[in-house]
Amino acid sequence: MKIGFGKLMIAGLALGLGLLLTAPIALTASAMQDIKSTYNQKCAVCHGVDGAGNTPYGKKNPMRALGSKEVQSLSDDKLLQIIAKGSGGGKMPGYEKALGADTCKQLVGYIRTLAGK
Ligand code: HEC
Repeated sequence: MKIGFGKLMIAGLALGLGLLLTAPIALTASAMQDIKSTYNQKCAVCHGVDGAGNTPYGKKNPMRALGSKEVQSLSDDKLLQIIAKGSGGGKMPGYEKALGADTCKQLVGYIRTLAGK
């Protein structure tokens, strides 16, 4: 009975370690999912789900595709500044207050996944 308990402890420890090791990966995937849905809710209305700007708004206010070389060649800092503070005299609203600085940073990462689209 004592040995059984010991084995149980080891199994429990292994399980605990396993969870510790897999948790960050699962979080990253869900964070990616979250930021994608934030983009789709807040940004796609103007930029399009793929960032190409093929939207009624984009046709009236021509803008570069987020996945284009021109936009992708901007630094992370520059993209963050545009998303947080806005651009084009308010045509591109600033999102720092509405979404928070962290979410704006994650949106920069998301825009990198639109490269070439
Ligand atoms: C109301 C429409 C609208 C919404 C909503 C919007 N944008 Fe924009 N965005 C624009 C316009 C217009 C420009 C071009 C501004 C300019 O000419 O400087 C732009 C520019 C940008 C740029 C710079 C592109 C370049 O050509 O340098 C980035 C990056 C960007 N937006 C990201 C986002 C993100 C991320 C969101 C969501 C949080 C978002 N935008 C929401 C209209 C919008």
